[in-house]
Amino acid sequence: MASECSLLGVILVFTLFRDLVTVSGQNIPAVGLFSFGDSNFDAGNRKFLTKATVAQNFWPYGKSRDDPNGKFSDGKIVPDFIAKFMGIPHDLPPAFKPGADLSRGASFAVGSASILGSPKESLTLNQQVKKFNQMISNWKEDYIQKSVFMIQIGTEDYYNFTKNNPNADISAQQAFVISVTNRLKNDIGLLYSSGASKFVIQTLPPLGCLPIMRQEFNTGNDCYEKLNDLAKQHNAKIGPIMNEMAKTKQGFHFTVFDFYNVILRRTQSNMNYRFSFTNISCCGIGTHNAYGCGLPNVHSKLCEYQRSYLYFDGRHNTEKAQESFAHLLFGADPNVIQPMTIRELIVYPLDDPMREFWEDPMEKKLSLVQNVVHDFDASGSM
Ligand SMILES: *[C@@H]1O[C@H](CO)[C@@H](O)[C@H](O)[C@H]1NC(C)=O
Ligand SMILES: *[C@@H]1O[C@H](CO)[C@@H](O)[C@H](O)[C@H]1NC(C)=O
Repeated sequence: MASECSLLGVILVFTLFRDLVTVSGQNIPAVGLFSFGDSNFDAGNRKFLTKATVAQNFWPYGKSRDDPNGKFSDGKIVPDFIAKFMGIPHDLPPAFKPGADLSRGASFAVGSASILGSPKESLTLNQQVKKFNQMISNWKEDYIQKSVFMIQIGTEDYYNFTKNNPNADISAQQAFVISVTNRLKNDIGLLYSSGASKFVIQTLPPLGCLPIMRQEFNTGNDCYEKLNDLAKQHNAKIGPIMNEMAKTKQGFHFTVFDFYNVILRRTQSNMNYRFSFTNISCCGIGTHNAYGCGLPNVHSKLCEYQRSYLYFDGRHNTEKAQESFAHLLFGADPNVIQPMTIRELIVYPLDDPMREFWEDPMEKKLSLVQNVVHDFDASGSM
């Protein structure tokens, strides 16, 4: 009896200890984190690339931490939380900040970045990859191979397309989506050629539900479905592209985060996730508080309690929301991130081929239904 108790104690202590270690990230290899893309992942790079005033360097950005540091949030952003879970002892630094400690990786993402085009005072994904290659001697080859590369980009492309082509028909849309996703695939291939092997790609959120799009396209409490459609078309191509790369490029590992549905669920059933406000921003002016957060000529309207909002400004999430996304990325179930979590991606043996791939959630649902029907048939025949 006594020995059973102490065994239980040992198991309990072990379990607690293991969980503690997991939380602090100590039992996974000390690898690096690199982020690429647009404002969602910009760790403060923009101000090093432009002489213009950068609103996100001013209050109330960083409000929850009293630290306006060029991130588009009231506090930290997703890659900062991922860095923490990985045991990196500081936020992910902006790659272009002189003197930043880049030893555990860096953010190459810049606000307003796009995949196509030549964004003003920003960089395309392709230009970010070129900057990474210029700085590549900062890291050892095998360190790059083991490190995590997160990419979030595309919003700017589809927003720009919709503004310039309000009446684009289906075939023009499809052609644009193909040119964007082909270029994205090409840029990911360039990172792979530079030695990266572990990729985390986020799908685009429902772009038409962003407060700034509702405000700009005057949709009131509805989402602007044209932009949601484009995001869906783009997203449908991501999984298959990544599957193909993993099947054709040796040691290519990836996972896809279903950001679209993560945001949609929070938008539609907001109280399940404790967000009182999902159709308007916390900081800014206009019908949806979506413009001008941080700008000196705007007397920014700032909400009282950031944590009850899904969006901090017109198109970026609050720190509370970003922290929950990071938890999903690092340890959620396969409905949200597949075929594996970031944690599993980190420990996945280098050079091993992937054994599981991305599956279309709609097809998965169908096969589930077929299984149920099959089960029913089986029991009926007994
Ligand atoms: C936006 O679209 C215009 C016209 O198609 C193009 O010239 C420009 O480079 C695009 N900008 C971005 C950021 O994609
Ligand atoms: C936001 O949603 C609430 C609750 O559904 C609604 O009452 C309000 O009018 C919406 N705000 C805007 C600007 O559409």
